[in-house]
Amino acid sequence: MLKNAASPDWNAERSAELYQVDRWGRGYFVVERDGRLQVCPTRDTAVKVDLMEVVEEVKRRGYDAPVLIRFPQIAQQRLHEIRAAFSTAIEESDFQGRYTCIYPCKVNQHSSVIEAMQASHGEGRETCGGAGLEAGSKAELLAILPIARPGVPILCNGFKDVAYIEMALRAQRLGLNVHIIIEKPTEFQLAIDVGHRLGVEPKLGVRVKLAARGSGHWEATGGNKSKFGLSVTELLSGIQRLRDCGMEQCVQLLHFHLGSQITDVRRLKAAVIEATRIYADLKTSGLPLSTLDVGGGLGIDYSGMRNNSASSMNYSLQEYANDVIHSICIVCQQAGVPTPNVFSESGRALVAHHALIVFPIFGATSFQPGYEPPNYLDMELNTAVQPLVDLMDALNDLNSATMRERYHVAQASMEMAISLFNSGYLSLADRAMAETLYREVCRKVSRLMMDLEYLPLELENLQVQLAEIYYGNFSLFRSLPDHWAIGQLFPVMPIHKLDQRPSTKAVLSDITCDSDGKISRFIGTKNELATLPLHPLDGSSYFIGVFLAGAYQEILGSDHNLMGDTHVAEVSVGATGAFEIELDPGDQLSDVLGKFGHHSASIMAKMESRIHDAKANGQLTKEEASEFSQFFSGCFDSYCYLDLGNPASETAQRLKPLTDAQPQLAPKSNLFRGDTGDPKPMELGP
Ligand SMILES: Cc1ncc(COP(=O)(O)O)c(C=O)c1O
Repeated sequence: MLKNAASPDWNAERSAELYQVDRWGRGYFVVERDGRLQVCPTRDTAVKVDLMEVVEEVKRRGYDAPVLIRFPQIAQQRLHEIRAAFSTAIEESDFQGRYTCIYPCKVNQHSSVIEAMQASHGEGRETCGGAGLEAGSKAELLAILPIARPGVPILCNGFKDVAYIEMALRAQRLGLNVHIIIEKPTEFQLAIDVGHRLGVEPKLGVRVKLAARGSGHWEATGGNKSKFGLSVTELLSGIQRLRDCGMEQCVQLLHFHLGSQITDVRRLKAAVIEATRIYADLKTSGLPLSTLDVGGGLGIDYSGMRNNSASSMNYSLQEYANDVIHSICIVCQQAGVPTPNVFSESGRALVAHHALIVFPIFGATSFQPGYEPPNYLDMELNTAVQPLVDLMDALNDLNSATMRERYHVAQASMEMAISLFNSGYLSLADRAMAETLYREVCRKVSRLMMDLEYLPLELENLQVQLAEIYYGNFSLFRSLPDHWAIGQLFPVMPIHKLDQRPSTKAVLSDITCDSDGKISRFIGTKNELATLPLHPLDGSSYFIGVFLAGAYQEILGSDHNLMGDTHVAEVSVGATGAFEIELDPGDQLSDVLGKFGHHSASIMAKMESRIHDAKANGQLTKEEASEFSQFFSGCFDSYCYLDLGNPASETAQRLKPLTDAQPQLAPKSNLFRGDTGDPKPMELGP
């Protein structure tokens, strides 16, 4: 890779290494030598698209980031890879059954994702072209039924009532291959009763609670105390009940689910062995079982660390498939029963890679475009204030020999300055000067620290304290809820400028009014990091991508601060690299307000009444009242994220005549127009 003229000491290859793109990207993401991140949806490097071009095209169409970018081709490719791994494992063993990959749609219910799962054509010994589908509720089943290809298995999991079972049985009458998975003892009788009433013999599966447990965040999903599944006693008495009604032949499938994101492959192996033992015993007792469903849990290596920590996994896809198939094979051979067909319900592993969220950075603690902070270092020092004099001395006399001592002096002086301020003996301007001097001391210490072989513990945290806060136009609660809720790591990196050295360390703050709304844990080569290397802000646009966000994030995301859905761009890439985008606009203010009972019409009626009163009281002229009315009625159509000044955006177009007419009403802000290349204050509204 050639070095870039702009950053002679850096290149794209070093960025790829720094952000560990190869480790988590699995060939779907590649850093080009021009420093821009490319997506290869089929892992063929000849078929690729530049992420920045996608963002720019979305912008040209009038929609600003944050934008969720979806590549359905990646999900299809993942399906292909999972099937291929099982085909290899099956070919290498004496295995007679077939493998079917089932997509649990709870992971991402979006119609285009389910459709992508159905559009794929498999290879090898697949039962059908598309993936099978799993529903966890009535609503999910109803979403699946019209999309499912004839013949693909449809599994009904989750708690069930009469309506859910009836929906499943009626779908069976329509010729769909629907299986009801019994999760609770009472569901046996429900299935018997509804089946009798409709005259349909149900295809049943049974979910068993194993003694084996998974590993990682979702360990409690398995084991005897798990919320779902039948104990062996419940299983046997339920089967007896079916026998009593002459319906034992309905039970065709045995299922278990160990929990999502299994991090340790040994746990999986133990579970498969235990489940196959149960399968073999039931089969020997005369039950016509034909399928073993090993549930979900196939992990994603979010951190790229390849270990059994919560955001990683200590096995490969092929090892997973081998362990499932070989373990089943061995137990079946020992028990003298034929090997079953195998289902896996891999959700995360199918769709995590296919979506990412991109957002712009619009400012930082030390850099607010359009705002020049006063340079206290150039100002005259108030020599009457001892802590200020001591801080200045500490700064001037700081070198590798004096570093620790001077740092201690600076800490003590800063504490003294705050104490004087609180007692009323230090002015606000002097406090600002103390802060500036202290920060300069810390920065200098941090630079000197780089040359130290041994780092004293007290200095270790300094770099974290000195990290910049970069402000991103996104909501953590909407787009990455698992980072907030369970501390899951996601790969985070700039999607351009990767041929330039990222010389700043930062954490990322979102735009919600919540101190939790930040990303401050990042993947590192060996350990998790508290800061992310990023590029210094210079007023030009700067976009960050958060990757592997295609599983669970969209559906678990919340409307905290009424930040609703982001825009979604669905991208398909042709053989030549030409791409097509389908855009689904994100929530406008009216959408998010309406969800919580604040309907536009009633808000507007009340605002009109306030405007009317203000006019009646002489606070507004007639013309102003009409302009206010126009302004407020137009607000409902704007995107719920910050409008950073895309001139093509709907809001900009709508507000233009108003801002032209009433320039004196426009407040200034520190935000910058990301695309102009130079920092300029921007007008937020009329
Ligand atoms: C029954 C069942 N199957 C499959 C899955 C999908 O799991 P994963 O996304 O880890 O593959 C889940 C989710 O936890 C589940 O509850």
